[in-house]
Amino acid sequence: MHKQGKFIVIEGIDGSGKSSHARTLTDQITQWQEAKGLPSCIYEREPSEDDPAGRLVRASLTKQVQLQPETLAFLNVASRIEHIHHLTELLYAGHCVVCDRFYPSNMAYNQTASLSMSDIYELNRVCLETLRPDAIVFMSVSVEESKRRRKSDSKRTSEELFETDAFQRAVHDRFIQVFDFLKDKETVRFVDAEADYETVQSRLWEAVRPLLD
Ligand SMILES: Nc1ncnc2c1ncn2[C@@H]1O[C@H](COP(=O)(O)OP(=O)(O)OP(=O)(O)O)[C@@H](O)[C@H]1O
Ligand SMILES: [Mg+2]
Repeated sequence: MHKQGKFIVIEGIDGSGKSSHARTLTDQITQWQEAKGLPSCIYEREPSEDDPAGRLVRASLTKQVQLQPETLAFLNVASRIEHIHHLTELLYAGHCVVCDRFYPSNMAYNQTASLSMSDIYELNRVCLETLRPDAIVFMSVSVEESKRRRKSDSKRTSEELFETDAFQRAVHDRFIQVFDFLKDKETVRFVDAEADYETVQSRLWEAVRPLLD
């Protein structure tokens, strides 16, 4: 049996607008698919809260537990191994899935002196043998604008583990390196996400819609 639904990943630095735009995209794809009599689109995010490894990663991001950086990198992979079982079930049942972060975030955030970007890619092979994205969209936003968006987001009460200016700048640069590394391995779409909500959403939709034909 073949995977029927499309698996679309949304990536970007903290506060770039991934979750908001990914949820709107999920609704847009659902409307598009249902008009053709096809199943709905499902929004998923990583790290997932649905497995113990993912819950530990989330607890670490909110600074409730302290872990070694390498532990965090490996837990991220462990959570993804669990999540992929759920994702493939959805995709095989014909649902499209929009996933808010996936292994490129693992590569951009969890590098250490002893764990390189390509090391983390290798760790993720165990996942990629089962499931590869149909497309990975990078929501390109400056560090300054992302910070403004995080600051004006009333739902955010405190800064997460990686949300310092210096780290965000490093992550921004690492994402560029990650997508350069992935350019021959994945279908990558860059969306200029610096603009207002409606403009960005229509750019995102234009980047994704051809996959649904
Ligand atoms: N295009 C946009 N223009 C202005 N504000 C935006 C835009 N997109 C999202 N926002 C706002 O920016 C804030 C951060 O957005 P969001 O939570 O979607 O970012 P994120 O990338 O998911 O962040 P994180 O990585 O921390 O989960 C929210 O308040 C959201 O409403
Ligand atoms: Mg988010």
